[in-house]
Amino acid sequence: MNYNLAVIKGDGIGPEVVSVAMDVLDKIGEKYGHTFHYDQILMGGCSIDACGVPLTDEAVSAAKKSDAVLLGSIGGNTSTSPWYQLPPDKRPEAGLLKIRKELGLFANLRPALLYPELKSACPLKEEIADRGFDMMIMRELTGGLYFGERGTSEENGMRCAYDTLTYTEEEIRRIAIRGFDIAMKRRKKVTSVDKANVLDSSRLWRAVVNEVAENYPEVTVEHMLVDNCAMQLVKDPAQFDVILTENMFGDILSDEASMVTGSIGMLASASLNETKFGMYEPSGGSAPDIAGQDKANPIATVLSAAMLLRFSLDLDVEADAIEKAIKQVLADGYRTCDIMSEGNTLVGTKEMGQLIMERI
Ligand code: IPM
Ligand code: MG
Repeated sequence: MNYNLAVIKGDGIGPEVVSVAMDVLDKIGEKYGHTFHYDQILMGGCSIDACGVPLTDEAVSAAKKSDAVLLGSIGGNTSTSPWYQLPPDKRPEAGLLKIRKELGLFANLRPALLYPELKSACPLKEEIADRGFDMMIMRELTGGLYFGERGTSEENGMRCAYDTLTYTEEEIRRIAIRGFDIAMKRRKKVTSVDKANVLDSSRLWRAVVNEVAENYPEVTVEHMLVDNCAMQLVKDPAQFDVILTENMFGDILSDEASMVTGSIGMLASASLNETKFGMYEPSGGSAPDIAGQDKANPIATVLSAAMLLRFSLDLDVEADAIEKAIKQVLADGYRTCDIMSEGNTLVGTKEMGQLIMERI
């Protein structure tokens, strides 16, 4: 089959890690008889430099025309990069928020699992790491605080700023349905995370999640306050299967969850709309401090490409082949610097890519 992928390499380590993922996809294509056509589009700082805006309308239409989007990372050092002298709606992140909204990518899936081979990179106590964990964070991605009304003003010399957190029941219902559907394919447990002891939006969230739960009698549902969830993630991560939560809570909890896996460089993510269409990206940022040094861990991006094959193209066998190759590379003792530990072999970005391809 022929597939058209829109590729956004982006900024920082983005170009290096996406190049590896494209090589791996080509290797999959060779082995399983597919051809991937890549339409490279600009987003983030590189688009600001080339086009004056973080995302052009042409780039959005190219993404809409594709079968799926593969993204590296966007943004630079927020204290030193000139991109952050621009007004907020012209900065690199504005491109990311715009593409999420324009493509209707409301469901963000961030799997966080501890590879047995990387147990020593896990910062938790040994007895906790020994129990392992494998959770899927389902983050609502196009609503809440990120897209609510906001403003900054000054009255009588006093500066004031506000952001609003709004959800409609429809926005909650569609992400909850996705969460329960995914739980049905996993260990059938949903932990819905909110702040219902304080926020109205959370009380509506909880009520709608309970309504959706009625259609999934096999799934165990529990509600957890977000502050408690932050604590439970380091105390007993094995208790979680699917964590279902709103945009901002999901942003914060997914960084925390990724760190307990040992490295954010291992975590893939998928952002999906109502159909099979999606955008796939590593959970980590653009890491400008190590950009261009062949140090970045490309595994999260390669795993994101595997998610793309699985969710958007229905190529499960091919996705399995990538995931298996990565496990094998880790079992063979190859590590990039973020996950390096004694007794293993240190490799760079490109070599890690080669090692993965050799195992496909
Ligand atoms: C993420 C990032 C983005 C977010 C930033 C770059 C706007 O932190 O994808 O988690 O907050 O959603
Ligand atoms: Mg984040």
